[in-house]
Amino acid sequence: MRTVVTREDLRATLGAWRRSGEGIALVPTMGNLHAGHRSLVELAGARRPRVVVSSFVNPTQFGPNEDYAAYPRTPDADRAALHDLGVDLLFEPEVATMYPGGTEGSVRIEVPGLSDILCGRTRPGHFSGVATVVAKLFNLVQPDLAVFGQKDYQQTLVIRRLVRDVSFPIELVIGATLREPSGLALSSRNQYLTAGERVQAAAIHATLQDMAGQVRLGEDEAVVCEAGTARLAAAGLRVDYCTVRMADDLSEPQPGQQGPRVALAAAYLGRARLIDNVLI
Ligand code: PAF
Repeated sequence: MRTVVTREDLRATLGAWRRSGEGIALVPTMGNLHAGHRSLVELAGARRPRVVVSSFVNPTQFGPNEDYAAYPRTPDADRAALHDLGVDLLFEPEVATMYPGGTEGSVRIEVPGLSDILCGRTRPGHFSGVATVVAKLFNLVQPDLAVFGQKDYQQTLVIRRLVRDVSFPIELVIGATLREPSGLALSSRNQYLTAGERVQAAAIHATLQDMAGQVRLGEDEAVVCEAGTARLAAAGLRVDYCTVRMADDLSEPQPGQQGPRVALAAAYLGRARLIDNVLI
């Protein structure tokens, strides 16, 4: 595995592969890799001969009072894991490489509609930061396939919209969420939880699964969401949202509306903000 930090070294390595017609898959990450990330890398490797992983804690997707400085950074362990997985290239850019004009004055990409609801309402600017850095990575790496995790469901829709509206010729693959035996979705932020909070956090997936089951049985969705919110609060979580939305655009289901839905929740527990979802 080659590790590069500059655009020039990245371009030189990718150029050789592209000239020989080899397909390139990109797995964008913020490092601190766990089994969930590893499964995304494996998906990429099964689909394309060349796999590039980017590791960059992107400052523009963190709000002023969020955990940018504290976000866990484990570059040595990440490099070893990616090497063992047979990754071809690891891109570990500096902030100045991704934001040559600084983060403040940088061109930003907005994804209207999807960016200011649910997680975007609580984290203003977050999805603009995600769309901006992902567009930069797409331009730098020019993969023909990119892999993201379903745990960040709203993020996957933002990126789908980005790819469609900016005409990136990139196939998106969404990897399933990996979970602890309790059902808790794997996340770097689980490290912020104490042992007791980990037990409490399992309520998120159990609640979403039950909500999905009730919606499938035709129960009133408003009642289902209210009960889900109450159950999370009773488990000791501070609920940001616990809701059922249309799966394709996260709009609120209208009476009688058909089509796939998704149950989603975000909640605070100790130092962590946790998110999860279940497709219905
Ligand atoms: O999901 C993440 O880890 C990040 O939001 C991403 C897509 C790598 C952009 O920084």
